Amino acid sequence: MPAKIISGIETAKAIRAEIAAEIASLRERFGLIPGLVTILVGQDPASESYVAAKNKTAHALGIHSEQVTLTADTREVELLRIVGEYNRNPAIHGILVQLPLPRHINEAKVLFAIDPAKDVDGFHPVNVGKMMLGEPCFLPCTPHGILELLQRSGVETSGAEVVVVGRSNIVGKPIANLMLQKRPGGNATVTICHTRTRDMNYHTRRADILIVAAGVAKMIKADQVKDGVVIIDVGVNRIGQAASGKAILAGDVDFDDVVGKAAAITPVPGGVGPMTITMLMKNTLQAAKQAAGIA
Ligand code: GUN
Repeated sequence: MPAKIISGIETAKAIRAEIAAEIASLRERFGLIPGLVTILVGQDPASESYVAAKNKTAHALGIHSEQVTLTADTREVELLRIVGEYNRNPAIHGILVQLPLPRHINEAKVLFAIDPAKDVDGFHPVNVGKMMLGEPCFLPCTPHGILELLQRSGVETSGAEVVVVGRSNIVGKPIANLMLQKRPGGNATVTICHTRTRDMNYHTRRADILIVAAGVAKMIKADQVKDGVVIIDVGVNRIGQAASGKAILAGDVDFDDVVGKAAAITPVPGGVGPMTITMLMKNTLQAAKQAAGIA
């Protein structure tokens, strides 16, 4: 039987409706308008499209959003100055610096400069540490979106063999940590594979839930997974152009190859991507409520 398609579009739509309703209510009851700033350095086409989508969604949900666009040669000290300015701006509750940054800028230094209370990406070490300890904090958006997708699709994680392919700070490491936590949506046995893993197929073939965030188009084929696996494909790879002139997107999983073998799978596009943006909105709403002292 072909796999059930786990639609990020549908799930995101439901969560966005909840967020929009709460924002409307906050505005009415307290005059509170959540504010988000996105900061983009350089002209990477993928980053440009992500930031545009984040601002568009924010606007649609009633979030005040500002975009700061800086040239690729912007100095680190200037970026730090701008982050500091938004740290002090009471109308802005969430600060997002789009990654990757140009090579001459120290990414860690910039992320560490963001006020942890405005760190809606969940990348500041204070939030990363709290996440690791299972304390309330801003969760990084893509892993948070994956948890929501699994939970809302009724996928049992307790005791499951979860295999994560990729060890990035944005996806691989945090999703592995979250699936390990002792709480609903966690309690999994987690393995992380990466470029130095000796026998990746041995691990991927054991997975009940396979989460792939490696950044390599269509790398996972049917012979690398077991029957009935649940696949979360985090990859967004631009391969060639469609007749329309637009880039064609492909995941890290060869969808057509595995779809007959998996029990459920997220498509690309329309899987994890919409969830990432939705969780950013959720975090921005949360940041605004915390700043206003509304629990
Ligand atoms: N680049 C790729 N994913 C992300 C993300 O979730 N947040 C930021 N800031 N940059 C990214």
